[in-house]
Amino acid sequence: MSDPYFQQLFADRIGGSNYGKGTEIYKFEKIKRAKRKALAEHPERTLVDFGIGENDEMAAANVRSVMAAEIDKPENRGYADNGIAAFKEAVARFMQREFQVELDPIREINHCIGTKTALAMLPAAFINPGNVTLMTVPGYPVAGTHTKYYGGEVHRLPLCVQNNFLPDLDAIPADIRKRAKLLVINYPNSPTGKVATREFYTRVIDFAMNNEVVVIQDAAHVMLSYADRPLSFLEVPGARDVGVEIHSLSKGWNMIGWRMGWVCGHERIVGALADVKDNSDSGQFIAVQKAAAAALDDPSIPRNAREKYGRRLRKLIATLRTCGFDCQMPGGTYFLYTASPKGLKGGIRFATAEAASQFLIAEHSICTVPWDDAGNFLRFSVTYEAADEAAEDALMAETGRRLKSLNLEF
Ligand SMILES: Cc1ncc(COP(=O)(O)O)c(C=O)c1O
Repeated sequence: MSDPYFQQLFADRIGGSNYGKGTEIYKFEKIKRAKRKALAEHPERTLVDFGIGENDEMAAANVRSVMAAEIDKPENRGYADNGIAAFKEAVARFMQREFQVELDPIREINHCIGTKTALAMLPAAFINPGNVTLMTVPGYPVAGTHTKYYGGEVHRLPLCVQNNFLPDLDAIPADIRKRAKLLVINYPNSPTGKVATREFYTRVIDFAMNNEVVVIQDAAHVMLSYADRPLSFLEVPGARDVGVEIHSLSKGWNMIGWRMGWVCGHERIVGALADVKDNSDSGQFIAVQKAAAAALDDPSIPRNAREKYGRRLRKLIATLRTCGFDCQMPGGTYFLYTASPKGLKGGIRFATAEAASQFLIAEHSICTVPWDDAGNFLRFSVTYEAADEAAEDALMAETGRRLKSLNLEF
């Protein structure tokens, strides 16, 4: 294809005049291609898909009924701007009920069209050229991408076994601390499954105060916490003075496609997000906000999601252990993040988790997501489709049968 007249006009941040010409294939595209190939070459073998990062269920029936009723009401038809009071009040009730955190729904809460958009917008409120966003890796990269769009830099904080998948804040060099404005953390953490402790959050608050950085705690997976009750950053004394927490209806309420979340915490930061947001979108459809409010008022929804994904994770761990994996129950999320095999006993070697993952898809139709950012790990998601517990058990038996026969070496 010849270049259009505007080829030279693309901004440097997305590749400048080379935009659209790259040949690099990204991880998730590689996985999709390998899946298609495995299905085409081995139609007789069912694809065991631990690669999907989306809930397998629809939103609860009572939430869908509210949506169905609200969609017909003329008063819901218009721009929602920065959100309706009914949703913010439901958030305030939820934060009080689950975490004993009291928030002013007017000043300290704002909805967002999914947490992804809030993570994309917050750098606009803080990042000038040369500023730094501190971000944990592996992780959800959106705030970092937008930091770079604004001429900022990302300083990576590796999450590895040696630091128990918590960032080593003391290791951040002095010149980086000086330029840092944002610290983005995410607990329960995707993909590692690690949950934060109160002590860790206290250290984060001290770090933020001492270095004058703003904390963005991404709690998208918070209702999928297994060991203990879910913990909010805002429960910890001082948290509200240094930042905000971002929540999502996607994971804990099976509402991924509904695009609903919120930002809560320091009123000045919530206000700044609302200002940027007001210049970016016109708010989520009011019927969705009302359905989301009903979802927040029903504690059984996240409880059911937690029970189901917890059960599936326990079954997966029991299965993988019989195949040589050394894995433990994650603290949260619907992901199991476990050391990638180094090869097959007496056979092929895998230099990276990506090589292991590609081998498992191509040769055995088992799909996982590889992470090579801080050590070599495979992520197994338990969001696969299975009609009932018997179907889950059958899938585990099939997974165990295929993986055991490989003689994996770690
Ligand atoms: C850690 C993390 N943060 C944020 C998001 C975005 O979620 P939402 O659907 O609320 O935009 C995801 C989605 O996968 C995630 O894993």
